Amino acid sequence: MHKQQIKEKIYWLGAVDWDRRLFDSLIPLPDGTTYNVYLVQGSEKTALLDTVDPPMADKLMAQLADIPKIDYVISHHAEQDHSGTIPRVLSQFPNAKVVAAPKAKGMLINLLKIPENAFVTVEDGQTLSLGDKTLKFIHTPWVHWPETMGTYLEEDHILFSCDFFGSHIAASDLFVRDQGRVYEAAKRYFAEIMMPFRNIIEKNMEKLKAYDIRMIAPSHGQIHDRPAWIMDAYRDWVTGTPHNLVVLPFVSMHGSTRQMVDHLTSALVEKGVRVELFNLPVTDIGKLAMSLVDAATVVVGTPTVLASPHPLAAYATFLANALRPKVKFLSIIGSYGWGGKTVETLAGMIPNLKVEVLEPVLCKGLPLGTDFEALDRLAIAISQKHRENGLI
Ligand code: FEO
Repeated sequence: MHKQQIKEKIYWLGAVDWDRRLFDSLIPLPDGTTYNVYLVQGSEKTALLDTVDPPMADKLMAQLADIPKIDYVISHHAEQDHSGTIPRVLSQFPNAKVVAAPKAKGMLINLLKIPENAFVTVEDGQTLSLGDKTLKFIHTPWVHWPETMGTYLEEDHILFSCDFFGSHIAASDLFVRDQGRVYEAAKRYFAEIMMPFRNIIEKNMEKLKAYDIRMIAPSHGQIHDRPAWIMDAYRDWVTGTPHNLVVLPFVSMHGSTRQMVDHLTSALVEKGVRVELFNLPVTDIGKLAMSLVDAATVVVGTPTVLASPHPLAAYATFLANALRPKVKFLSIIGSYGWGGKTVETLAGMIPNLKVEVLEPVLCKGLPLGTDFEALDRLAIAISQKHRENGLI
């Protein structure tokens, strides 16, 4: 797309990546993404805020072809999807200075070999005048990396938030127009990128209360010209009470574990507990991450393979541990052939989760009556825990 005006002397540039389906060789992108770049032209100086992922560099450079000068390249975040084209921008605008947080400077030198004398570092709360427009830098560590910052454009009340409040969604809309679709994409993005840093994000949200933010322009996805709902959503995801929800990622090799999963699901639903199943061999891992934002309980369903949990169950457990959701209770169910250490192995993989582990249910081969009774007891225990915590 061509560059588009957002407000007087403020423009969107960048690239819509309709085709990308994986980020960081890990995160599914079912809706593609965008790399948003913003140009702010003050009466005296011009600033470019971030760049694009290097495969999209030609698009940005074409958009910049008729821009006579850039004085500052603001680098909010050193990850290459935003910083990777800074070297090309500097080669076209050799007098431009890279403005970054002190931590970002070292990372940009390390990752992109930008010369040290190209930098101006800015502290938290520092301002930079472009003449009739003033940029105020707000350090927002861990949204997404420790060096990340945002910029508040004082005269126009716009927060350029980088990954914060972003969403991986390719669209021709400049502004959020399909709020339901963006809500889902933003929640997916929060789950995959932000959830591990919930506590620090809460502090960053507090920090933003000091600003009269009338527009949020993130570095991925559409611009929030009515930003209240996305800030409310973040508050809920970060600090809201977990829901009356069991997330049940599972894998079954010959159907025994599947029978247990189905039985437990029915028993939980009978007791008023919502359940979301994720059959791991065919699961979009981003959907699982989104459900973990809300879940009060996780139950992992796995057969025993080579004396251990199935590798897909181990992967899901590793992921849940890394994402640090608000989950309060956890259990394990599954079938084994002749023995193993499935429970011990999985229990050892969740040091980050502050959970109460509820009695696991493992059965030998196909589940029998006593195994189903044990699953009924687990369903009762989960529903009681949810009730005691005011979730039902
Ligand atoms: Fe969009 Fe953390 O980079």
